[in-house]
Amino acid sequence: MAVRHFLTLQDLTPAELHGIIARAIELKAQHRAGTAGKPLDGKVLGMIFEKASTRTRVSFEAGMAQLGGSAIFLSPTDTQLGRGEPVEDTARVLSRMVDIVMIRTFAHDKIERFAEHSSVPVINALTDSFHPCQLLADVQTFVEHRGAIQGKTVAWVGDGNNMANSYINAAAQFDFQLRLACPEGYDPDPQLMARYSDRIHLTRSPQDAVAGAHLVVTDTWASMGQEEEKQQRLKAFAGYQVDHALMALAASDAIFMHCLPAYRGMEVSEALLEDTSCSVIWDEAENRLHAQKALMEFLLA
Ligand code: CP
Ligand code: NVA
Repeated sequence: MAVRHFLTLQDLTPAELHGIIARAIELKAQHRAGTAGKPLDGKVLGMIFEKASTRTRVSFEAGMAQLGGSAIFLSPTDTQLGRGEPVEDTARVLSRMVDIVMIRTFAHDKIERFAEHSSVPVINALTDSFHPCQLLADVQTFVEHRGAIQGKTVAWVGDGNNMANSYINAAAQFDFQLRLACPEGYDPDPQLMARYSDRIHLTRSPQDAVAGAHLVVTDTWASMGQEEEKQQRLKAFAGYQVDHALMALAASDAIFMHCLPAYRGMEVSEALLEDTSCSVIWDEAENRLHAQKALMEFLLA
């Protein structure tokens, strides 16, 4: 059978994605109870990081250890990738040595080229275009707190970035409605918006996006690689902060998510971020661990 990759949510079927969420919830319970097995005994994960990370690195590394395998951290500063060895060559070499690879990089086509030349599964751990692992954790978190996400309304407020694009993919795969409020010039991928126009709605008004929503999500206004645009972005995103006043327009049992790291007082108010009556960010962060364990188990099955 052809090797399976996870470069976007669309690489898996809705049924497979639901299976991974269910397994993640099960693995979490087993981990807590101390009854988890070691299904990936002896397996090795290669982790290529061309951008910084806290959650992704620790969740993949700890996750692999908990499943009985091990992980190798690779950065461009101390591998030949940083000296210009082609990604196609790196893919063919690494996949003869490790069982599965995780990559965090800039341009999405780099991970596509890697996957094309890899004989083992490749996982997208964030590119400029998508962050699908975070969506597995987000959906798991919604399911744990509020039940099925199917048929619900999700509001995205802020930058039309890699997370926004992944929410569009998720709306299709997990069957929910998505309203995105982005300032002009910061829209998500136009092709994606056109493909899934039946379930997404783009507005300039955070209030319109959030009205009656069951889940409200935001992310940093300046993603990794956009550091130089920070000042210009601060101006463009004025009025897009998610705070208690905005959340008050959402459904009465709405919850708030943020993939983190968060910039308090910018895209989200400190009070909302810390309000555990609706903010589920710590569960969301923890679920990266469980969701990715389920994902690796699936891809290596
Ligand atoms: N949410 C997320 O991917 O966090 P890190 O950048 O810390 O990995
Ligand atoms: N959009 C952010 C997500 C960080 C996890 C970034 O790409 O920097």
